[in-house]
Amino acid sequence: MDSYAVFGHPINHSRSPFIHQRFAAQTEQALKYRAIEAPLDDFAKTVEAFFQGDGKGANVTVPFKEQAFALCTEVSERASRAGAVNTLVKTANGEIHGDNTDGIGLVTDLLNKQVTLSNSRILLLGAGGAARGVILPLLAQQPASIVISNRTVSKAQALVELFDHSALSASDLTQLDNYQFDLIINATSAGLSGNMPSLSSKCLHDDTVCYDMVYMKGQTPFNQWASQNGVKQCFDGLGMLVEQAAESFFIWRGVKPNTQMILSELRTML
Ligand code: ATR
Repeated sequence: MDSYAVFGHPINHSRSPFIHQRFAAQTEQALKYRAIEAPLDDFAKTVEAFFQGDGKGANVTVPFKEQAFALCTEVSERASRAGAVNTLVKTANGEIHGDNTDGIGLVTDLLNKQVTLSNSRILLLGAGGAARGVILPLLAQQPASIVISNRTVSKAQALVELFDHSALSASDLTQLDNYQFDLIINATSAGLSGNMPSLSSKCLHDDTVCYDMVYMKGQTPFNQWASQNGVKQCFDGLGMLVEQAAESFFIWRGVKPNTQMILSELRTML
């Protein structure tokens, strides 16, 4: 049976085995999928051993996405622009190819939720790996603008220079008072420690949509802030998690699973 895995550290809370096992059952694909905790200093060797065995493909999560990028023989354009790989594929001649499905996962989830991206004014909070990974797929939807704002503004400026696109600009978090956005995406990791970037509610209008790439049981700190400031549509990143998995599954198996049932199941498990 073809074997797949997710590599991370730590990995015991990963939802990926559950999601992919459900996808496999639903699409009647015979495959195994398990979680593997790679040692922090031995990621490449752990992955190599997996692919020398029965491994056909893998997902990669924190903190190995950049290392995964480095070990690939070839990477997709979206992975190259993201500077990170979350999906590995073993090719027929034994090479390891890399892709990044995080950004398309976010875009698919937003479109599933009927959020308009084309011609919209987007604020992207954060300038780390998570933010970088979603910029290219967001730009492909032709928004009017994407303002990248980060606690450390120089990192937001560096991303703008890297992507070099007329719709992109960088701003200090404290200088956003005069702008209103149609969609605000929180790509910072602040929520994981119970915080959120300090943002003025002047950035919101009556129909602003807020999306937090973090998810947890109950509302994330960013979505709590948004709700308290009158935002009607707040979403967390659980849908993105399922959609990036579906895109990886499609790359490996050539079949698109249905995501909505699994998303509802996962929500009840949080
Ligand atoms: P990831 O891979 O999740 O993006 P990262 O590359 O470490 O992780 O980036 C974390 C992001 O969250 C950064 O944009 C960081 O801001 P700084 O560049 O200023 O460090 C942001 N972040 C983390 N904690 C934050 C907080 N409490 N307030 C605001 N931004 C925060």
